[in-house]
Amino acid sequence: MVDLSVQLGALVLRNPLLSASGTFGHGLEMEHFVSPESLGGWVSKTVTLEPRHGNPAPRICETEAGFLNSIGLENRGVDSYLEKIVPALKGVDAVIFTNVGGASPDDFVAAVERLEEADEVDAYELNLSCPNVQGGKLPYGTDPKMAEDVTRRVRDVTKKPVFSKLSPNVSRISDMAKAVEAGGADGITAVNTLLGMSVDWRNGTPGLATIQGGYSGVGMKPVALRCAWDCVRSVNIPVIGCGGISTLDDVLEFLVVGCSAVQIGTASFSNPSLLAEMAEELPARLAEAGFDSVRELIGSMHGLERPGGSSK
Ligand code: FUM
Repeated sequence: MVDLSVQLGALVLRNPLLSASGTFGHGLEMEHFVSPESLGGWVSKTVTLEPRHGNPAPRICETEAGFLNSIGLENRGVDSYLEKIVPALKGVDAVIFTNVGGASPDDFVAAVERLEEADEVDAYELNLSCPNVQGGKLPYGTDPKMAEDVTRRVRDVTKKPVFSKLSPNVSRISDMAKAVEAGGADGITAVNTLLGMSVDWRNGTPGLATIQGGYSGVGMKPVALRCAWDCVRSVNIPVIGCGGISTLDDVLEFLVVGCSAVQIGTASFSNPSLLAEMAEELPARLAEAGFDSVRELIGSMHGLERPGGSSK
């Protein structure tokens, strides 16, 4: 029997498989494809203090390998989330991460303060990295000081675990990782989407109304893997890998470079049952390779060192 459980700071997950924010509704919409009990955790679509209508259409656009999105954080706001979504999460047997967004530190703090009344929310994931708001400037995703500050402001108002979700659209993600660790993050999600665009040269029409948007899908896996590894070797808090993961081999690659868990996003659109299939296959795949627990694999890549000296 292979032990699949992993530890993310104070959180224990039954396995390292999570849904990625924005690809799984708020969670229960997908339960007829993936039961909560088969997963390590569910991550909600971003919730903001006030409702947001999102960006103009078209805001999804397929590319050769993956797609571009420019949703613009459409959601009904934190009060609606608390009233309509959270009650349904009562008794759900999975770790629930609520992903929180905001245009200012005050927004993040106010949303988290409202969410504190919900026992169903086990942890927060701070969306510091959405490329589809503020004209793609990504202030919290590219400025270490701002990322540290917003993480600290949230850290100060909750005892629940706080994970900061970073952007790959930076030259040194290690600086961002260190900044959010200094701000008190319990962990990091690495990474959000890559900034990209598409255009039809025949009629000159961009694929997205906002022209640029977030690119996700298998094509970004090597970039995401490098970002995740760079975070792992720069900080002593757990890292959740995310970006282009579509097979169990991809999952195991993110674990071997030191991620404590992974999130599956875009691949769930073409196969909504993928997470459940992976959860079922994972024990046999590890056993075949001689592992008694998933933790033995985590961080076992040759040459991986962490700042504290441990390879885990
Ligand atoms: O536009 C969006 O809602 C995307 C959010 C994200 O990538 O974080």
